[in-house]
Amino acid sequence: MLRHFRTTAWCLAIAAGASLAAQDAEALFRKSCMSCHTIGAGPKTGPDLKGVLQRRSREWALGFIQSPGSYFDKGDATALQLLKEFNNVKMPELGISAADADALLKLIDELTKSGKVLGSKGIDRPPTALDIQKGKLMFEGRLRFAGGGPACISCHTATGAGIAGGGLLGPQLNAAPGKYGKNLATTIENPAFPTMVNVFAKKALTPEEAFQVASFLNSVGTQPAPKKDILFPIVGLVGLVGSLELGRRLGRKRFRGVRKNLTPKA
Ligand code: HEC
Ligand code: HEC
Repeated sequence: MLRHFRTTAWCLAIAAGASLAAQDAEALFRKSCMSCHTIGAGPKTGPDLKGVLQRRSREWALGFIQSPGSYFDKGDATALQLLKEFNNVKMPELGISAADADALLKLIDELTKSGKVLGSKGIDRPPTALDIQKGKLMFEGRLRFAGGGPACISCHTATGAGIAGGGLLGPQLNAAPGKYGKNLATTIENPAFPTMVNVFAKKALTPEEAFQVASFLNSVGTQPAPKKDILFPIVGLVGLVGSLELGRRLGRKRFRGVRKNLTPKA
């Protein structure tokens, strides 16, 4: 009886441990991999990882996740073939430990077998004027995100958004469409940027919202960058005061010089 109880307790402990590890692996996948990969929703910047252990050895996959760069350096045929297929975008060195790589592969394998999907490829249709309009309103915080996430404008600026610029914590976003191309929406849906991960972890945008915000950014992406509405006047003012002061000093010097010239030589 006691033995039976012990065994049960043991099994429960193991089960609890296992599910915890799985949760951690999913969180790690969302944070470090999902901007480029899905499990079962198709390729993005990198391949769909569904069934990766059916096409690669466990050893290869474990090593590649920990240090993709070393596979390119040593001219590994599979890595070079993948590189060619994926537009010469090199998977970055992400500092993944052997234990984490193992947990990630377990997660991928579980989902492959259960047919569950992680990640999304986003929405694939041409944006309408309404998409762009809604995206702008959400960017500015005039239309709330369903998940309660903060407005982009609290940290970012972009042409055409807001009347008084925006936050300066994050970069100006006019370059983002060129940088992320067709992955902009899914990058916004699952941001891997350290500052945004924490803020949006439990408040992710829906694929629709991310698509609309991206559509707005794409619509203004080619227009000239906005003036730095907050910085510009300050920089301008400092510059103005500075040049006035410089002018004053130069003027005084010149005046002195002139005066010197005017004083009769002894
Ligand atoms: C910035 C984009 C990016 C990120 C982030 C990224 N990868 Fe990749 N990954 C790629 C690309 C691109 C390839 C294809 C090979 C290449 O071109 O580097 C790839 C290939 C792979 C492969 C080989 C797939 C196959 O079909 O053989 C595995 C496994 C993999 N990645 C796992 C991961 C895991 C796990 C993470 C998170 C810890 C991750 N990747 C994060 C871009 C990325
Ligand atoms: C709490 C502040 C904050 C909010 C809110 C926020 N971001 Fe960011 N974002 C950042 C920071 C900071 C970075 C730069 C990377 C980092 O440090 O994490 C960044 C980076 C980015 C990038 C990458 C830019 C590049 O040049 O690579 C994009 C795209 C982006 N954010 C889009 C958005 C969108 C769209 C929203 C609204 C849904 C948003 N962000 C909301 C802080 C924020």
